[in-house]
Amino acid sequence: MGRLLVGVLASGRGSNLQAIIERSLAGKIDVEVAVVVSDVEDAQALERARSAGIPAVHIPPGRFRTKLTPEAEQRYVEVLDEHGVEVVVLAGFMRILHDDFLTRYAGRVVNVHPALLPSFPGLHGQRQALEYGVKWTGATVHFVDAGVDTGPVILQAVVPVMDGDTEETLSARILEQEHRIYPEALQLIAEGRLRVDGRLVTSAGGTDGATKGDAGATGGDGS
Ligand code: GRF
Repeated sequence: MGRLLVGVLASGRGSNLQAIIERSLAGKIDVEVAVVVSDVEDAQALERARSAGIPAVHIPPGRFRTKLTPEAEQRYVEVLDEHGVEVVVLAGFMRILHDDFLTRYAGRVVNVHPALLPSFPGLHGQRQALEYGVKWTGATVHFVDAGVDTGPVILQAVVPVMDGDTEETLSARILEQEHRIYPEALQLIAEGRLRVDGRLVTSAGGTDGATKGDAGATGGDGS
């Protein structure tokens, strides 16, 4: 079986990208990052890609604030196709993708979100969790559909909220889990193990979708 070719879209720091690159280079996942594309010219993610010898491309987003113009999106598609990308990995990509893009890569766009969806979608999932006062939050890897953070859930990890947590301390605890479950989810896709039936994602002979973090918290099995 060949390695799964992924294209990573990232707007900023790129720590999830880094986690995926490291697992990939170490041969721990059957995934190869074929190209990294950013809407932000000086995104650290592009630097990380270059340092790893991975093509890094800046494509200006166009005139809109939260989405790509159709012309820009077309350029994204061209670059991803040029690099033979099979799965599009959003890693801190701050632009909304249109239906045309999602139709083209139907069922092949994934994202990581810093909360236990469907709780706290959209921006600042960690801050939303703190402000709500939940005791547990986490990270979610999901397929991307036309909504904001509404697509079928692939994996989740549960993270405790500690007394005295700030957005920074909670974000760091969640990020550790993002870095663990994102490569794991990509490996499930690479192995062709995921089945999607409406909202329900199952994996043949593997994970139950609720992964245990260092905190030992569980989810999804009723405990
Ligand atoms: C992560 O918290 C991710 O959940 C969210 O954006 C952040 C990206 O961080 N979608 P990084 O750029 O991967 O470091």
